[in-house]
Amino acid sequence: MSILDWNKSLEIGHKTIDEQHKGLVKLLNDLHSAMSLGVACADYTPIRMRLYEYSVLHFSEEEALMGRTGYKLRAEHEREHQEFMGKLEVLAQKASSRNEDIGTEMFTWLADWLLRHISQTDRKLVECLNSDAKMV
Ligand SMILES: [Fe+2]
Ligand SMILES: [Fe+2]
Repeated sequence: MSILDWNKSLEIGHKTIDEQHKGLVKLLNDLHSAMSLGVACADYTPIRMRLYEYSVLHFSEEEALMGRTGYKLRAEHEREHQEFMGKLEVLAQKASSRNEDIGTEMFTWLADWLLRHISQTDRKLVECLNSDAKMV
């Protein structure tokens, strides 16, 4: 069973962005599955690496769209992306140098961040992109 099922309320109306968000939600669910293995067996490194790679790809896609359209809230939006990458870095440090179990912290942060960023920050961007598209 997945912890967060993809549903219409998470769709914000941009085919590529919605597809990529689906991929991020899948990683959240994969993380949950890894956590259910228990602290002794769970290895979060592969999922953290996948999350890193996928986020780089997804954020650069959104940032390219913001760049092409002269989006006015670009700086704030990009700052949220940078904070996300910074948090992933902190988690990587905790896991590797201090050998901490980062499962719960990563899961709580990721679930909260994804829901908030998608439903507010990304939604604003897509509304703007779609309204520009209608004007052309
Ligand atoms: Fe974003
Ligand atoms: Fe996004």
